[in-house]
Amino acid sequence: TAPRTFRIAAIPADGVGKEVVAAGRTVLDALAADSGGAFAFEWEEFPWGCGYYERTGRMMDEDGLDRLKDFDAIYFGAVGWPTVPDHISLWGLRLKICQSFDQWANVRPVHFLPGVVSPLRKADDTELDWVVVRENSEGEYAGLGGRNLGGRGPGGEVAVQSALFTEVGCERIMRFAFDLARTRGRRKVSSVTKSNAQQYGMVLWDDVFRRVAADYPDVETESVLVDAMSAKFVLRPEDLSVVVASNLNADILSDLGSALAGSLGLAASANLNPERRFPSMFEPVHGSAPDIAGQGLANPIGAVGSAALMLEHFGLPDQAARLNKAIEATTAAGILTRDVGGTAATEDVTKALIDALAI
Ligand code: NAI
Ligand code: MG
Repeated sequence: TAPRTFRIAAIPADGVGKEVVAAGRTVLDALAADSGGAFAFEWEEFPWGCGYYERTGRMMDEDGLDRLKDFDAIYFGAVGWPTVPDHISLWGLRLKICQSFDQWANVRPVHFLPGVVSPLRKADDTELDWVVVRENSEGEYAGLGGRNLGGRGPGGEVAVQSALFTEVGCERIMRFAFDLARTRGRRKVSSVTKSNAQQYGMVLWDDVFRRVAADYPDVETESVLVDAMSAKFVLRPEDLSVVVASNLNADILSDLGSALAGSLGLAASANLNPERRFPSMFEPVHGSAPDIAGQGLANPIGAVGSAALMLEHFGLPDQAARLNKAIEATTAAGILTRDVGGTAATEDVTKALIDALAI
């Protein structure tokens, strides 16, 4: 049979994004080369990001979304550089893609790897593994509001940044979380809000959660306020399986989770359009890391773990598992970048991952 070819748009963008996407592509191509011709990847790379903005005044081409929409997936690095204000770079590229392609579910596994020392001592003797499911289309990142409202003038400026919660938006992310919980060893969904203080949107969230939960009697549930949940990530992580939260809360909690697992550089993420009307986007959780960019020090594991999520999305769960096993074999062998206490370069880890695929 002819090989299945997956067409992937690569957008490395800025800083270490370029380094980790290059590493991820090398590992994926090695995987395909070793698949006995079962599948192949066809890449097209787009030069968008802050450098592009400096040259053209745009974060991406005007017809960029049109050019992306027929790819099977988007493999993204990280956007943001000190020369461009962060709200411009983020809204002009990453949020634009997420919102235009209705990638409403953001899946962020918190996975503890062998050989990586966690600041969480329990991790040494407890199996820890949970997933943050982030509502990725509305909430606090709906972009609603404005500046200089009421015309109070210099020194008295007023800004409003509103959060948007819809019943449809809440319900679809919660059903997604419950369906995901059913695929896991522990069938449990923890819902996170701040509904004691935010009495409209988050109370709607709580109401929808109760209603949806009734359709999943086999799945355990809990509702936890976000401040308490951040403590729980540290104190009782063994009690977590799927954590569903609004855009901002899940953004913060997933960084906390990846730091507990050892480094932001390890954390993977998928921005999914579950209906598959548009391409989904796979990217490490971390940003462009200007402090270490260009030195070959970036940890590629977050980007390679994101590639594994992409393979699952392509319907290749065995290949995704191979990639995840290669990651575990590499960290277990102590081949670690500096952020997780090692001395290996991006290139060394990439090579070790490829070697581990052969085992
Ligand atoms: P960051 O994630 O870039 O860096 C935070 C810390 O983690 C730094 O000390 C960095 O060295 C370290 N780190 C990050 N990735 C790493 C890797 N692969 N290997 C080893 N260490 C790693 O967050 P920061 O500094 O707040 O933001 C820098 C820029 O990235 C900003 O412009 C920000 O807007 C942007 N950003 C973009 C994101 C995206 O495109 N999804 C997400 C977060 C930030
Ligand atoms: Mg973040």
